Amino acid sequence: MKKYNVAVVGATGLVGTTILKVLEERDFPIQKLTLLASRKSKGEELMFRDRKYLVEELNENSFDADIDIAFFAAGGGISERYAPIAASKGVVVIDNSSVFRMDEGVPLVVPEVNGEDTFKNCGIIANPNCSTIQCMLPLKAIDNKHKIKRVVYSTYQSVSGSGLKGLKDLEEGKNGFYPYNIMENLIPHIDVFLDNGYTKEEMKMIQESRKILHRDDLKVTATTVRVPVKFSHCVSINIELEEEFDLKGIRTILSSYPGIIVKDDLKNLQYPMPIDVEGKDEVYVGRIRRDYSLDNGLNIWVVADNIRKGAATNAVQIAQVLIGKED
Ligand SMILES: NC(=O)c1ccc[n+]([C@@H]2O[C@H](COP(=O)([O-])OP(=O)(O)OC[C@H]3O[C@@H](n4cnc5c(N)ncnc54)[C@H](OP(=O)(O)O)[C@@H]3O)[C@@H](O)[C@H]2O)c1
Repeated sequence: MKKYNVAVVGATGLVGTTILKVLEERDFPIQKLTLLASRKSKGEELMFRDRKYLVEELNENSFDADIDIAFFAAGGGISERYAPIAASKGVVVIDNSSVFRMDEGVPLVVPEVNGEDTFKNCGIIANPNCSTIQCMLPLKAIDNKHKIKRVVYSTYQSVSGSGLKGLKDLEEGKNGFYPYNIMENLIPHIDVFLDNGYTKEEMKMIQESRKILHRDDLKVTATTVRVPVKFSHCVSINIELEEEFDLKGIRTILSSYPGIIVKDDLKNLQYPMPIDVEGKDEVYVGRIRRDYSLDNGLNIWVVADNIRKGAATNAVQIAQVLIGKED
């Protein structure tokens, strides 16, 4: 089997270290592994497949070596500056930041939903926003059968979505990164506020959903909220369908879709919660019920590990599509 030279930019961060874990779990065929981070981490040792690797400082020459695939997980500024350099040297970049997601020549991919878009890349493939990724699987499953007219997202996003600094704020009960203390609180403010009154996170969910689902006409709105939970994001999705549907049919559609686990047994108090979903690669769906305030309305509750399916797992799955290896 062909093996690939792989680099991870931001290898010491929450997403970067999880990318390494997922590459190992999925037995990704690696010839040479290059780990890159800031000057602060230069010389740090990280383990991969029982071998120690030294972290190198990222610089403009980092991609001169023969690298096939580079995962970028070091923030938007680093991606903006270094991803085009890597791509110009023949590297295929799988980028976790939001910088290139809406660019025309950059595919925005959730492999179970639009894996075929992976191959339309010009050197950069974007990994979608973490909350968006987990919503795409159930929405695509439903949209395939009953066209969706409108979607309302309300999110409950864990602090690990802000990286190590978010976890630190919750653990220490201080507001070093967030504008307010997140402990025993909820903050309806993720990323910066825009002129239209939405946050950038909310606009990412709206625009990225349309791009991934190939539904420019889809009506979408979102409210995104940070909650004092360490790992896994939850999204309440209210969906209006174009036509009548059968609830049993919706359950069948969802449970037979790749990457979705339906956990919805009210008698036994079974519904998805962050505490159970942490560390899992699948998207969990529960609380499937009609919205009686609409003719064809549906409510679902969707939970996924934001560092895994919301970032690292999805990025590695994209790489697997790229090299033609399904897990
Ligand atoms: N957390 C999530 O749920 C999530 C989900 C989807 C996407 N993302 C995206 O993934 C990226 C990483 O997020 P994270 O949560 O893993 O953040 P993080 O835990 O704070 O890690 C940041 C990483 O970036 C590296 N870095 C910082 N400055 C650098 C520089 N000047 N040069 C090279 N490397 C540098 C850090 O290296 P040092 O250790 O050396 O500082 C570290 O490895 C971001 O773009 C984020 O938006 C995150």
